[in-house]
Amino acid sequence: MNFSFPKPLLPLLFLGLLPGTAALAQKKKPAPATAAAKATSPADIERRISDLLAQMTLEEKVGQLNQYSGREVTGPASDRKNTLLTSIRNGQVGSMLNVKGVKDTREIQAEALKSRLHIPLLFSLDVIHGYQTTFPIPLGEAASWDLDAIRLGAHVAAREAAASGIHWTFAPMVDIGRDPRWGRVMEGAGEDTYLGSLVAKARVLGFQGEKLGGTDAVMACAKHFAAYGAALAGRDYNAVDMSEQQLWETYLPPFKAAADAGAATFMNSFNALNGVPATGNRYLQRDILKGQWQYPGFVVSDWGSIGEMANWGYATDKTDAAQRAITAGSDMDMESDVYHQKLAQLVKDGQVKTELVDDAVRRILRKKFELGLFDDPYRFSDETREKQVLADPQNRAAARQMARKSLVLLKNDNATLPLGKTLRRIALIGPIAKAKRDLNGSWNVDADTTRITSLYDGLRQRASKTTELLYAKGCEVSGDNRAGFDQAVAAARNADVVVMAVGESWDMSGEAKSRTDIHLPGVQEELFKALKATGKPVAVVVFGGRPLVFDAIAEQADAILYAWWPGSEGGTALADVLYGDYNPAGKLPITFPRNVGQIPIAYNQQYNTGRPVTKPGDIRYKSAYIDAPNTPRYAFGHGLSYTSFKYSDLKISHPQLQAGEAVQVSFTITNTGKVAGEEVTQLYVRDLVSSVVRPLKELKDFRKISLKPGESQTITFTVDKNKLAFYNAKLEWQAEPGKFNLLVGSASDDIRLEGALELLP
Ligand code: BGC
Repeated sequence: MNFSFPKPLLPLLFLGLLPGTAALAQKKKPAPATAAAKATSPADIERRISDLLAQMTLEEKVGQLNQYSGREVTGPASDRKNTLLTSIRNGQVGSMLNVKGVKDTREIQAEALKSRLHIPLLFSLDVIHGYQTTFPIPLGEAASWDLDAIRLGAHVAAREAAASGIHWTFAPMVDIGRDPRWGRVMEGAGEDTYLGSLVAKARVLGFQGEKLGGTDAVMACAKHFAAYGAALAGRDYNAVDMSEQQLWETYLPPFKAAADAGAATFMNSFNALNGVPATGNRYLQRDILKGQWQYPGFVVSDWGSIGEMANWGYATDKTDAAQRAITAGSDMDMESDVYHQKLAQLVKDGQVKTELVDDAVRRILRKKFELGLFDDPYRFSDETREKQVLADPQNRAAARQMARKSLVLLKNDNATLPLGKTLRRIALIGPIAKAKRDLNGSWNVDADTTRITSLYDGLRQRASKTTELLYAKGCEVSGDNRAGFDQAVAAARNADVVVMAVGESWDMSGEAKSRTDIHLPGVQEELFKALKATGKPVAVVVFGGRPLVFDAIAEQADAILYAWWPGSEGGTALADVLYGDYNPAGKLPITFPRNVGQIPIAYNQQYNTGRPVTKPGDIRYKSAYIDAPNTPRYAFGHGLSYTSFKYSDLKISHPQLQAGEAVQVSFTITNTGKVAGEEVTQLYVRDLVSSVVRPLKELKDFRKISLKPGESQTITFTVDKNKLAFYNAKLEWQAEPGKFNLLVGSASDDIRLEGALELLP
């Protein structure tokens, strides 16, 4: 079954655009797939693959393992275009990336069908956070902690892409990202493995549906296998060095969750892990993924990563790289051209067994069969569907919903937000106030940048006719030009309130966008100080693809709303939240440090140590810094609301837990404020004594609930032995008898209720 816009959900989706969104908290029911692939049993598919394999020459088999980028193949005449078209007609290409749209995919598929065995191509693309309609960057989506919404976002992206001839997206990125210097933290779900694994599953199901083959779905690709997010010093493509415990406990589970959810493909990664490039890493790909996990899908290399093993000093040349990659379990070569050049000869020379090649080909053909491409190679390339799906207003409605859910209210002194509905003048100031392209962030594969709603447009549409919007840019994102300061200060003086829009620009985070200094760039903080000096209340909206550092704003702003890169409907969603039509409920999926020197600072990398700081300021010979506190600027799980929640009545069903049993942890949450709101309540565990020391807190469960003013709800979390387990020194997943703290709260640094539990031997 695929997850489509279920009919009963449609009215709710639109309803959700009205003030109050409790309706959206309802569960969405999966609906039948549209145009499912012809029912073919797995046994039939395996038989058809065997028939085909028996007819294939070695060169044709290797052909299935090659993937090329096709920007040129549909462009003007060129040598590259000729070469690609010839290779496609000769059956030497299994997949193209970056060919999109019904017209182009039809044209190129027709070329592939001219090959001797008429094997269709797979069209792939980086549909990371939307296709034509852009959703918030994945890190922003994760801040919603709303798995149904995340699944819906992936589904909308898949539906649009699948209507444009795409079969396969290179998403989700399920790398744990704990280092905000690494530009790619924007593409993942943040620093926590529990949250990250659930988000991985939601995204895979959103992209693919329950089963491959619907024309409203695309194949997912869990990437980058593995540990890419732990690049040394946060520098992209760098080496990774980590213990086996950390690999298994922190970095592998989201991949396992993606595999269990049926992710059709995996992508390996650019990094070396403990000395072995992931692309040539047999332990990762053969032993763990295809061995222990029995993964039936195929593995694509990352762009050129097979060839890059020579740069790493791991392969002597292309021949050696091809031999190492296929042996290690890399099935498809993205853009290295190394398999194409070297693999057939390696087989002929007896250096690579035919069975290895056959296994890789079988895995790839299996997906082509499951997608129904052998029955109808053009089934994803239908012009009428393309027009209809891309113009569907539900897509933007879903993007607006997701954007609202992704916003995190970091600070709100004196109820500065929401803005009063009767304000006479709002000064909207800052380099991102009218920006459009920036709102889409990195990875825009087909986004229509003319259809992005800026913050200015969103506020203008939402503000009453009698409210004047005084706009001044003030400064650029980067550089030190202060020429616009005076005009901005004058606008602030004339206004009742200042809304400031600052951040990094879209191309400052993403792939190959690591930064050593993650401060808000340029003179933006200086401009903020000048505005603050007017005495007017200043609400700051910060845009960015990573946690940014901002000191004056954190300390002196009256309110701070973190907007990430919110996508096509960012401006409208922000206006919804700034005006209180939607009560923000986002919570940080990644820790915000005070400065770069505190990194690594993920909440679950904090230990008691042998010398804990027990009294603030008492740091002599303690595990501390002499120039900054240990605490971050904003902790994992932090995020405010326009209302307040009281936690009470913690009950733990049994103080002791026997193996094989479970305890219920229940408590009450009451909305003690004046407006309806949502709360993401979080359960953390601390293991007090264990054979391998544990972090101070580990997230084990959460629930997002919606409460009207004065309303209460009892929440129950179940804790069993599995929730207390970890990898011990022998790499066994085990819970050790002893005492645990159970911590319930609104953020990792805002624990409201605390209880004790003992695990009995
Ligand atoms: C990135 C991948 C991406 C691929 C194809 C690589 O540089 O690391 O995440 O899917 O390019 O565009």
